[in-house]
Parts: sequence; structure tokens; C-alpha cells
Amino acid sequence: MRSTSSYIRIITFLLITYVLIEITVETGDQSAFIVQPLSWLGLGIALLFMVAAEICLAAFKNILFMALSPEAQERYQSAESARKAKQFRWIKKTYLRLLDSKPLEQEDEIILDHNYDGIKELDNNLPPWWVYGFYATILFGVIYMVRFHVFNDYTQAEEFESEVAEAKIAIEEYKKNAKDLVDVTTVTLLTEASDINAGKGIFTTHCVACHKADGGGGIGPNLTDKYWILGGGIKNVFRTISEGGRDGKGMVAWKQTLKPAEMAQVASYVITLGGTTPAEPKEAQGEIWLDPDAKKDETPTKEVLETVSDSTLVVLSHNTVQEN
Ligand code: HEC
Repeated sequence: MRSTSSYIRIITFLLITYVLIEITVETGDQSAFIVQPLSWLGLGIALLFMVAAEICLAAFKNILFMALSPEAQERYQSAESARKAKQFRWIKKTYLRLLDSKPLEQEDEIILDHNYDGIKELDNNLPPWWVYGFYATILFGVIYMVRFHVFNDYTQAEEFESEVAEAKIAIEEYKKNAKDLVDVTTVTLLTEASDINAGKGIFTTHCVACHKADGGGGIGPNLTDKYWILGGGIKNVFRTISEGGRDGKGMVAWKQTLKPAEMAQVASYVITLGGTTPAEPKEAQGEIWLDPDAKKDETPTKEVLETVSDSTLVVLSHNTVQEN
């Protein structure tokens, strides 16, 4: 007793499940079915469940039908066929109206009285769907001509240029929002309080065990001083976090755990720790790091470096990297 309505019910149920999964699974702008492939499993289970329910329902109806007396069965069947005839009546009627063709039995009314070797011709009306479509094209043509050839609204070249300009804005917008696109070559220092706070949160969760909450250092080096083993500045710090430190030193590559945007946030937070005074600072390791991108006149002179720390020049001339 499979019927159209079971199919319709199954499809409706599937659509509802799809929308519900899309709404309940938190995935931001993207579809849950792309970000969380498990959603497909959910949908598949819903489908199996629904098919099973329909099979049970059909079986149940069958049993009820068998239990009826022969007259009742007959009454039921005629009621069913009456219901079926009514089903989709509106769609069927509209379809016939759009065709406006004479039924086979009435064709003799429209037959033309010529006859070519036994081939006769019917004089059917033009199908209304076609006629109205034709009027629509005429209307479209008139509006188009008046708009573009009489009033010269805009040319194709102008349309092209405005669309390119729009697309450029959209690309900028996309790049701004898609922070996960950052990598070591494009990362910049984030200064928004929300990013720094997010970075602090990540640091507290993943990094304090080795670098201490104030960045003073423990297993890992002091992150607040001017000395860097693997290079300072946002790009180097980002790379260290992403790729890890030297083999066997304990600093793992975080790119498996953190998203690029998160690494940019925590790297920016690490930079903000620079110059702060931790409670128990670990001794300096590595070299003073000077930003090669800094403008010439901002590069510290020898005197400035001397005021930074007494041991600066010693460290600079004496590469400690090997000894770590
Ligand atoms: C298991 C301990 C450990 C954890 C956890 C850890 N680090 Fe490290 N980190 C280290 C060690 C050890 C080094 C030194 C690596 C080397 O010498 O190559 C280091 C180096 C660094 C450096 C480079 C310092 C320099 O002087 O060049 C940065 C930046 C850094 N870690 C940031 C982080 C951030 C951010 C996190 C959290 C996402 C983190 N670390 C988590 C142990 C750790």
C-alpha cells in the first residue's frame, strides 16, 4: 500500500530534519553539512527511521484492512478511490487549463475539412501557457527598449565596471572576516581588545604550563624580555607557535590544535607581554631581536642597546642559541 503521500511525508520530514540540523548545529556562516560531515549521518538515520515508520504504518493499515468484513472492505476501497480521484485535482485542472486542448472524444468538433492522403488536421487553440509567455516577451522587449535605448539607463561596460567594483569590496570584506586565512606571510599584529582577550584565553588554556601566566617562563623561555631564541616580532612568534620550537625542546607545533586565527590572537597577546615585569622572570635566552622592517631612524643605536640591558652587547656578540 505504498502511496504518494508516504513519499511526500518522507521528503517533508527529511527537509524539516535538514533545516533543524542546520539551525541547531553551531557552525557560523557555513553549512553544518560542510563543517560537520556527521550531520549527514544524522540525516541518514532520520531517513531510515522515517522509512521504517512508513513501512510499519502501511503494515498496520494492511492488517486493519484484512480485519474488515468483505462489505466494509469494499466500502473502504471505494472511499479510497474517491479520495485518490480528488487528490491533486487542482494541479491536474490547472495543467489541463494551461494546455487548453480538446479531449480525444471531442476532436471531431475541431477537425478541418481537408484531407491529404488520409492525413487530417486539427484546429487546436494555442496553448495558453505559450500565448501568455509570448505576451510576456513582448512586454519585456518594450520595457527593455525604452529603458536602455530611449533613456540610455546604463551600458554593458558600465554594468561590468560597477560589478567588478562591487566584487572587489566583497573580496575585501571576505578577507577581513575570514581571519582563518592568515598564515605566517600575511599575519599582522592584532590590536583589537577582543582579539587580545581571546589570545589571553588561549594562552591561559594552552601555554601557562610552560611559560607561566605572566609569561615569565619556566620550562619554556621568558616571553616578556627582548631576547628571543626563535625570533621576535609577530611573524616569527606566529611561526614558532604554528610550527613549534627546535626538536626536543618541548614547544610543539600548535597548528594541529589551534586555528590560524587563534594562533594570530595568541601571538599578538604574546607580543603584548613584551616589556612587562613578571614575578619570577627566567633568565634571558637567545638574542635581542631587532625588527628588520623598522624604519632606519627607529633602529636602536649602540647607546640605546646599552641602556636596554648591561649584557646586551655581550649577548649580541656571543650567540647563545647553540648553548640552549
Ligand atoms: C610543553 C611546554 C610548552 C608549552 C605548553 C608551550 N610552550 Fe612555548 N616554548 C616551550 C619551549 C621549551 C620553548 C623553547 C623552544 C626552543 O628552544 O626551540 C618555547 C618557545 C616558545 C616561543 C619562542 C620563544 C623564543 O624565545 O623564541 C614562543 C613565542 C612560545 N613558546 C609561545 C607559546 C605559546 C603561545 C604557547 C601556547 C599556545 C606555548 N608556547 C606553549 C615550551 C612550551
